[in-house]
Amino acid sequence: MAESNYDVIVIGGGPGGYVCAIRCAQLGMKVACVEKRKTYGGTCLNVGCIPSKALLHASERFEEAGLHFKTLGIKCSAPELDLKAMMRHKDSVVADNVKGIDFLFKKNKIDAINGLGQIAASGEVVVGKHKYKAKHIVIATGSDVAGLPGLDIDEEWILSSEGALSLPKVPKSLVVIGAGVIGLELGSVWRRLGAEVTVVEYMDRILPGMDVELAREGKKLFERQGLKFKLSTKVTGAKTGKRSVTLTIEPAAGGGDAQNLEAERVLVCVGRRAFTKGLGLEHLDIALDQAGRIEVDDRFETGQKGIYAIGDVIKGPMLAHKAEEEGVVLAEILAGQSGHVDYNIIPSVVYTVPEIASVGQNEEQLKEAGIAYKVGKFPFMANGRARAMNAAEGFVKILAESKTDRVLGVHIIGPEAGTLIGEATMAMEFGASSEDIARTCHAHPTLEETIKEAALAVDGRALHS
Ligand code: FAD
Ligand code: NAI
Repeated sequence: MAESNYDVIVIGGGPGGYVCAIRCAQLGMKVACVEKRKTYGGTCLNVGCIPSKALLHASERFEEAGLHFKTLGIKCSAPELDLKAMMRHKDSVVADNVKGIDFLFKKNKIDAINGLGQIAASGEVVVGKHKYKAKHIVIATGSDVAGLPGLDIDEEWILSSEGALSLPKVPKSLVVIGAGVIGLELGSVWRRLGAEVTVVEYMDRILPGMDVELAREGKKLFERQGLKFKLSTKVTGAKTGKRSVTLTIEPAAGGGDAQNLEAERVLVCVGRRAFTKGLGLEHLDIALDQAGRIEVDDRFETGQKGIYAIGDVIKGPMLAHKAEEEGVVLAEILAGQSGHVDYNIIPSVVYTVPEIASVGQNEEQLKEAGIAYKVGKFPFMANGRARAMNAAEGFVKILAESKTDRVLGVHIIGPEAGTLIGEATMAMEFGASSEDIARTCHAHPTLEETIKEAALAVDGRALHS
């Protein structure tokens, strides 16, 4: 068994792992990153954020050309779908992105080790026949699809997000199980391309965890676009026939429907689970919580000295930018610096039309915590730029603490919400009050003006509504 010595070995080359490796290298450490997939970039670049956004973008343009161009005075014949070309676009975006990681590793002199990483003991990682030694080991093995009992994901009839990103043909009908982020994003893609999409959700609302008012508005707008919802409904089994899948349905929380559902394809997206299989944790002093996530302290260290964990494999939102933040902070801690992640200021975005974006606390959380707050709301309907773009649905909502006026949460549904949330995130990071935002000069005519107006509305002085 050949041996090599490193300061840090990162296991997993997703946004948590590869970013941690780069920051460690920047700080002068000798680093290796082990990845079992052929390409680096993890779930995010290979089968998650990037391919889904490529399809969301392409399908959005397809729908725009078919439905909305004529309102803007652009006459053209009905657009024709070339699904193969759309998939080629997605695949080339993924290929370019993963190539980018290879470049960054070379630039930062990080050793890329391909294979399954197993931890033999503190300081020892085994990949195939090779043993590698390191002062620190970082587990960044991410997450995997959570299935449903009674449903066998075969990626042909019953799909996970991975299969739903590569369908060879638009199904006539698609049942999406789970009205979370993946359900709404990929449900939107296939509806735009021509499938009849029904979303079955266990809870009595969509997007659990997001501000209720945002979710209610979202459901109304998605229904207008043609998505169908069956809330308070659970799927208990599936039978695959020659041309379709029949799902057995039962009423759930609050009492939904009990009629069976038949569809050409089924997408299961009921959440993801931390992935630790094959790491060899059984022999180590590393505890998992009830959800199977690795337990760490506030320095990301597990119970086993010198072994750390970050990203989807530990608690917190399963988001690429959260994993990246943790990767950077951990690298700095390993270099003897201090650092922490402010989990209250991690934005989340649903890339539908309109986009839905949130940062900080929502109204339900503030009520539960007994924090007195003021609300400022502003509709996109009253924003000149949104109207010029023919995209005036939705609103911005700012929640500020009654006593101090400090911004506690910002929730947006509307055009470019995912971009607009950046301003709100920055404001919160700097501890801004709603008055600070209201007093900041915003360019006209921009969508950002809705944020200024919502901030003015906290004090009842919005100018344009
Ligand atoms: P991962 O990206 O999962 O990377 C872990 C890597 O570790 C994998 O490549 C895996 O092969 C490797 N690995 C596991 N075990 C071993 C081992 N023993 N040895 C070697 N390698 C190993 N998040 C967003 O913020 N924005 C989005 O728009 C977004 N869209 C998404 C869309 C979809 C369809 C999905 C599924 C997810 C999306 N996410 C999005 C979530 C995002 O992909 C994850 O939060 C992010 O990838 C987590 O990063 P990570 O580094 O913790 O893990
Ligand atoms: P999710 O947690 O967002 O949504 C799962 C949904 O399924 C929930 O609404 C839940 O109530 C419902 N559900 C659970 N069990 C059910 C059942 N038996 N029957 C019907 N409904 C059921 O999970 P999702 O959509 O699978 O996404 C996984 C992760 O990937 C998320 O944590 C998300 O953060 C991340 N992601 C992020 C994206 C983004 O940032 N834009 C895009 C896609 C994924």
